[in-house]
Amino acid sequence: MDHEVAPFPSNHKERGRTKLALLELNNLHVGLEDGTEIVKGVDLAVGTDEIHAMMGPNGSGKSTLAYALMGHPAYEITEGEILLDGENVNDLGADERAQRGLFLAFQYPHAIPGVTVTSFLRSAINSIRKARAGEDDPIPVREFRTQVLAAMDELKVPRELAQRYLNDGFSGGEKKRVEILQMAMLKPRIAVLDETDSGLDIDALKIVAAGVKALTGPDMGALVITHYQRILNYIKPDFVHVFVDGRIVEEGGPELAHKLEAEGYEAFMPVPAGGEA
Ligand SMILES: Nc1ncnc2c1ncn2[C@@H]1O[C@H](COP(=O)(O)OP(=O)(O)O)[C@@H](O)[C@H]1O
Ligand SMILES: [Mg+2]
Repeated sequence: MDHEVAPFPSNHKERGRTKLALLELNNLHVGLEDGTEIVKGVDLAVGTDEIHAMMGPNGSGKSTLAYALMGHPAYEITEGEILLDGENVNDLGADERAQRGLFLAFQYPHAIPGVTVTSFLRSAINSIRKARAGEDDPIPVREFRTQVLAAMDELKVPRELAQRYLNDGFSGGEKKRVEILQMAMLKPRIAVLDETDSGLDIDALKIVAAGVKALTGPDMGALVITHYQRILNYIKPDFVHVFVDGRIVEEGGPELAHKLEAEGYEAFMPVPAGGEA
């Protein structure tokens, strides 16, 4: 290869960072319930004020990694650790991870018939407030209303969506907007977006990208997981990680995303045993 990208340390220790990474994965292995190993040893460090893109082909295990980060019970951490602010959260439930500031926007958001967008947001906010305060500390109704309306306007979420059941009959674009609305309202410290870009029209894509950009800063870092380079035209990542067959196989800056767009994942795919490249 005449265009090899120099190995790029994703680990903050190697990068010579002094501050603690907010989200750190050390040799993370994740398996399915039947024992199949999908994520095969991932090292990654994401700090606040950083946007990381994790790019990989379909079936490489990106969503499995995202679910494991969130604590989905169907995905078992078989080796390694997930640290949030230096704390091992391997054995914490999804709610406890959320209370510590982890947020995951799903590739396929679930509908929750019977629960409106507003009531869902209010209870999510209140559970985080309760964990932080150590006792019930519900957000005052007027404060909540002001914040929701401001966030909806900013993210161009139609106001009529607020009273509809969460994701019930929402279009693809509406679901993604509402995910970004949740992110804006919950103010996570680490946002993981799993293919939030797939199936989006350009307007919705721009809104998602603008939301991520606006929220990433001294209080938040982001991990944008995607198959396509497209969303990265609107969000410039600080770091790009190429993820193939459960492993990070190459790392670099934003230029790596363009290389992937031009050349695809072919060059990174494992050569079949005994086969010729
Ligand atoms: N809950 C599950 N049950 C069975 N197989 C799964 C499950 N989740 C993921 N897999 C399998 O793990 C592999 C990786 O899938 P996934 O993590 O969705 O990849 P990606 O998001 O990169 O497309 C695929 O072979 C997929 O079929
Ligand atoms: Mg996926």
